Amino acid sequence: MSNADRVVLALGGAGTVGSGIVKALLDKGFKVAVISRDNSRLDKLRGFVSPSTRDNLTTLVGNVGSEEGAEVVKQALLKSVGKVTDIVSSLGFSWWQGGPPHSQTLKELHWVIETLLFSTFVSWKVFFPLVRDDPNCTYTFITGGAGEKLLMPGTGFLTVGAASTLAFCQVLREEYPEVPCKLNQVKINTGVAPPERVAPGYLNHLDLGEAVATLVERKNTTHTVFPVNCPADLKTVILEGALHPPPSLPFIWVQLSGMAHP
Ligand SMILES: NC(=O)c1ccc[n+]([C@@H]2O[C@H](COP(=O)([O-])OP(=O)(O)OC[C@H]3O[C@@H](n4cnc5c(N)ncnc54)[C@H](OP(=O)(O)O)[C@@H]3O)[C@@H](O)[C@H]2O)c1
Repeated sequence: MSNADRVVLALGGAGTVGSGIVKALLDKGFKVAVISRDNSRLDKLRGFVSPSTRDNLTTLVGNVGSEEGAEVVKQALLKSVGKVTDIVSSLGFSWWQGGPPHSQTLKELHWVIETLLFSTFVSWKVFFPLVRDDPNCTYTFITGGAGEKLLMPGTGFLTVGAASTLAFCQVLREEYPEVPCKLNQVKINTGVAPPERVAPGYLNHLDLGEAVATLVERKNTTHTVFPVNCPADLKTVILEGALHPPPSLPFIWVQLSGMAHP
């Protein structure tokens, strides 16, 4: 199947990480659909992608974080694009530094978990059946390494939320070891920003997008975690790893995680 015949649903595609992925997918010839709760973010996205690819971008207003909202927007999506062959999920938020736990409210923790975990779970539950049984389909989660350690004082809830998403992805790999759809995770252990805001060591969202789009295009790995610690890893971990996937990578990752958190 050529890229032109593939339709990628980019969950969180209007965000910082997602928009780089959407642009790269469109530049590779994929058709892409993006759902956002905010029409102005979709307008901004339409203005951001390469003009020659804009006709291949479908945008829908909806909330994939609620079961009812996700079902409604799924029907609108299928009506408009016909089918979905690939899904990339980069839901959440860019940063949280609200302060140490004793200064926080339950409401704030609920918002963090809702944004990072509940939306990831609900959208997976609603959209995964579209791709689950086809080995030519892919589902790729973008997650953050913040879930493995406190990044700096005051970011505790970010760690709690990111950790819950990491755990959810691990559960999916282990609960569905034989699922035909290619199920992968890109775990980013650094900041991601558009070119004008990139700090040293950060990933340019366009470079990240290109690497993720290549991973989706190749669809030759599954149940694999691609850890990205720095810009150079985009090439070595994702691109070369996707070309020659080390068969034991998921096992190694699980072992290392176990050592870090006995
Ligand atoms: N940015 C970084 O530095 C960085 C670093 C490492 C990892 N990451 C990972 O990348 C993910 C995305 O980060 P980002 O920087 O792209 O954040 P962002 O710019 O805030 O974008 C997040 C996207 O998630 C969507 N979203 C959240 N809750 C939703 C809901 N209930 N329904 C529908 N959409 C919802 C937002 O949709 P709306 O358009 O509807 O608001 C938005 O498009 C993070 O969760 C994190 O795991 C980011």
